[in-house]
Amino acid sequence: MPSSPRRSSARRRRPNVVIAEELEPTLVEGVPDRLGRAVDNLLDNAAKYNADGAAVEVRLRGGELSVRDHGPGISAEDRAHVFDRFYRGATARGRPGSGLGLAIVRQVVETHGGTIRVAEAPGGGALFVLRLATVVAGEEPASAAT
Ligand SMILES: Nc1ncnc2c1ncn2[C@@H]1O[C@H](COP(=O)(O)OP(=O)(O)OP(=O)(O)O)[C@@H](O)[C@H]1O
Ligand SMILES: [Mg+2]
Repeated sequence: MPSSPRRSSARRRRPNVVIAEELEPTLVEGVPDRLGRAVDNLLDNAAKYNADGAAVEVRLRGGELSVRDHGPGISAEDRAHVFDRFYRGATARGRPGSGLGLAIVRQVVETHGGTIRVAEAPGGGALFVLRLATVVAGEEPASAAT
């Protein structure tokens, strides 16, 4: 799901962030650049709002991508708005950004027929879960057949 050039771009921009990954090979139908952007925006936030030196945990399993950090998390009030364009929550104070990253994530996910949700991670921190329909290898959509 996340194309490796995108993943490495997040790594390049934030070299000090430890990203702990557990990635199951996953095939989805969609526009790679757009999906990559969505994943990148989640990783960018996790790195930006994380506690200093803490890991960002990324897991891809069963068509579900989860990104979890150990920062302040997102209050219930902010969780209701973080996917809105230009919305910046309490955690954004003093940090760069324009409040567009998650609006783009939602737009990409919706145009791919998927879902995105945000929760408080057990023990604190933010948890984002992105879900997309997977394609079973050998059962690619008819449009891809010759
Ligand atoms: N992992 C996170 N931990 C804590 N707060 C977060 C996290 N991700 C998003 N937020 C909150 O949600 C708001 C919206 O996120 P979004 O990515 O859309 O905007 P941004 O990061 O402020 O700016 P941009 O992505 O445009 O650079 C943020 O301003 C921040 O308050
Ligand atoms: Mg952002």
